[in-house]
Amino acid sequence: MADELIEIEEEEYTSQLTGPTFARIAALVKPHWRWMAGFLTAIVVTAALDAFFTYINKLIIDNGIVPGNFNLVLKYAVYYGGIQLVQSGLVFTFIYLVGILGERIQYDLRKSTFNHLQDLSLSYYSQNAVGRLMARVTSDSGRVSNLMTWGLLDVTWAIVNVLTSTIFMLIINWKLGLIVFSIIPILVIIAVNFRKKILTEFRKSRRNNSKITGEYNQNFQGVRVVKALGREEENLREFSILTDNMFRASYRAAWLSALFLPTVQIISAFALGAIVWYGGLQSQYGAFTVGSINAFVSYLTFMIWPIQDLARVYAEMQHSIASAERIFKLIDTPPEVQDRPEALSADTIRGEIEFEHVDFYYEDRKPILTDFSLKVKPGETIALVGPTGGGKTTIVNLLCRFYEPKNGIIRINGHDYTDYTMQSLQSRVGIVLQTPHLFSGMILENIRYGRLDASDSDVEQAAKVAGAHEFIASFEKGYAQDVGEGGNLLSVGQKQLISLARAVLAKPEIFIMDEATSSVDTLTEALIQRGMEALMQGRTSFIIAHRLSTIRRADRIVVIEAGGIAEMGTHAELLRQRGHYYRLYTQQFKFEKERAYGVSMPGVVPVIK
Ligand SMILES: Nc1ncnc2c1ncn2[C@@H]1O[C@H](COP(=O)(O)OP(=O)(O)OP(=O)(O)O)[C@@H](O)[C@H]1O
Ligand SMILES: [Mg+2]
Repeated sequence: MADELIEIEEEEYTSQLTGPTFARIAALVKPHWRWMAGFLTAIVVTAALDAFFTYINKLIIDNGIVPGNFNLVLKYAVYYGGIQLVQSGLVFTFIYLVGILGERIQYDLRKSTFNHLQDLSLSYYSQNAVGRLMARVTSDSGRVSNLMTWGLLDVTWAIVNVLTSTIFMLIINWKLGLIVFSIIPILVIIAVNFRKKILTEFRKSRRNNSKITGEYNQNFQGVRVVKALGREEENLREFSILTDNMFRASYRAAWLSALFLPTVQIISAFALGAIVWYGGLQSQYGAFTVGSINAFVSYLTFMIWPIQDLARVYAEMQHSIASAERIFKLIDTPPEVQDRPEALSADTIRGEIEFEHVDFYYEDRKPILTDFSLKVKPGETIALVGPTGGGKTTIVNLLCRFYEPKNGIIRINGHDYTDYTMQSLQSRVGIVLQTPHLFSGMILENIRYGRLDASDSDVEQAAKVAGAHEFIASFEKGYAQDVGEGGNLLSVGQKQLISLARAVLAKPEIFIMDEATSSVDTLTEALIQRGMEALMQGRTSFIIAHRLSTIRRADRIVVIEAGGIAEMGTHAELLRQRGHYYRLYTQQFKFEKERAYGVSMPGVVPVIK
């Protein structure tokens, strides 16, 4: 039942095999064709031997047991045992080979999708939920590998069984063989139709089931409203309709499921009846033997099992093909931001940075930056401030080339930055994000993430510069302390300090910090401030600033509002202008001033230095 339900859920995604998909699936197994050829051969021989055993049985009965020739019985028994041993070896071989082939295909698929996912631009990730994407990739690669292993095995087994059984039946008695063979199409049609109907009913009942769950939630979460408005009667009536529908669909599904096997059995019974009747009649004239009747009955059984299973195999194949198509679609998605073919590696990006009439929008095409221009001298510290949603993070996203301008140019060292390779740019930029991300593992590994050749003492040195050493040293395991998934065992402030240490160690040429708005304690804040200053030394820095201290010390403050520069200047200049910055400063940073002085200061007026 549980299997059925999963299958139905997946039923929504099925696909027919097309030429191009087949070609790509074939390309997937091509490097491992030896394993595949091996397991297919083993399967074919195993299935053929099954049919052969039945034939030996017939010989034992007809030539050994019936005439009482027990020497012959013994001889055949030895053959039988010998072949059985060979078959066991073959069964071991194909199960083993199928296992290996499956793993190889999955390994290849996982590697190529992982590799491609790394190349994809951020825009892809903002359009696709990462969790679901990962789950899909994992289950899809599993299903594709299943198709090429167990799926192929089922099909081969079925074909060989039906073929060999038919051949042996024709050899024993071609007329009766043809009669038995003629029931195959009838069985196929019945199996496929039953399966379709059962699935439809199961799907209906499943949909009703989720509606029922929804009703439960709605009514009992909003129970006050229900009671207050006296909706109980009406709700019960609606609920009864749903449960009635579900009951009917489940009832039909159960009825059809129960009917399927007996139907197959009745049809086979006709075939069996024909065998026994015809065989029995013929045997009176010596044209048909007891062994032959026995063999026919066995062959019929051989044929029926794969056929009644055919519909299941077919449905699974359709799901797997849909999975393959999804994976290929992912692999075919080109990264939005890519290196130009003639891109050069930048020796340095210490030079001037210039945004020249940059327009930018995300996938929804809503303009974010319009005609944005900004020139930054080497070594300058720029503080980007402004209301939330103004476009500050977007500006640094463009600078890091996570996205590229839709119009206009970003120049570094006087060159359009798309003339450089992304690797040579991004490896020289150190970023500490608004929501710092750590990877599960030790603190040490997290700091070393951007420079794997750094020694333990380099890491410690960087942590000291960033001001992270003290709290790290206070942990029981020090630098070997585990940070938990996504760093969730640490506080936001601690995560930022570790990200700072990571940036210090990487020795970037440009430093970018998207300050967290969430408040950290005053001590941590001072530590972060010190770490940032160490990093900003001699580097062009872009700080999206919320901290007063950061802003004040910046060489230039750029107020970003609605995707453009509202104001620009030093702290003192901007305060004197009494414009946007002055308002931001007095409103937004009042709290900080209060905190800094430890008293409530209503209507505080900033001191102009
Ligand atoms: N991936 C995205 N797709 C679509 N729109 C986005 C995306 N990221 C940001 N935006 C939109 O772009 C605008 C600018 O966002 P941005 O993150 O640059 O603002 P911000 O100035 O950094 O704000 P905050 O101070 O809150 O961090 C917002 O309106 C936001 O909704
Ligand atoms: Mg932001």
